[in-house]
Amino acid sequence: MKIILFLFLIFYGVWAEDFISPKEYQESLYQNPRGISCAKCHGNGNQQTLGFYTKNGEKIPFIIPSIKNTNYKRFREILFQPQESKSIMPTYSLTEQEIKSLYDYVTNNKKE
Ligand code: HEC
Repeated sequence: MKIILFLFLIFYGVWAEDFISPKEYQESLYQNPRGISCAKCHGNGNQQTLGFYTKNGEKIPFIIPSIKNTNYKRFREILFQPQESKSIMPTYSLTEQEIKSLYDYVTNNKKE
């Protein structure tokens, strides 16, 4: 009897891994891509002020644009290709599928 229970627990454990919803998967990817977390700079995807810098004695905010209305072409491009040198947006080595997931996550968040 004990063995059966043990086996049950093992199978349950393996199976339970599948119980992560697409939304949870997408969120974990956003929080934890292979590289620095998107959330560090993009927060919940809305426009963010990351900090301030001074130029000619003027305090200028460093603004990160909203990514909620970005089209897929641009979304994909910015994650694949290095940007101009002044950009701090990093490139990632994500698969097409991962980029799609991130895109769905960010754009579905729109309503909330
Ligand atoms: C170090 C900060 C930083 C991190 C981390 C970061 N980004 Fe960005 N991102 C930026 C900045 C700054 C821009 C503005 C465009 C530029 O400067 O090139 C940007 C632009 C974008 C854009 C284009 C927006 C538009 O409409 O042009 C998308 C899409 C995007 N980021 C998605 C992501 C995703 C997804 C991740 C995580 C995998 C991520 N970013 C991680 C800083 C960051």
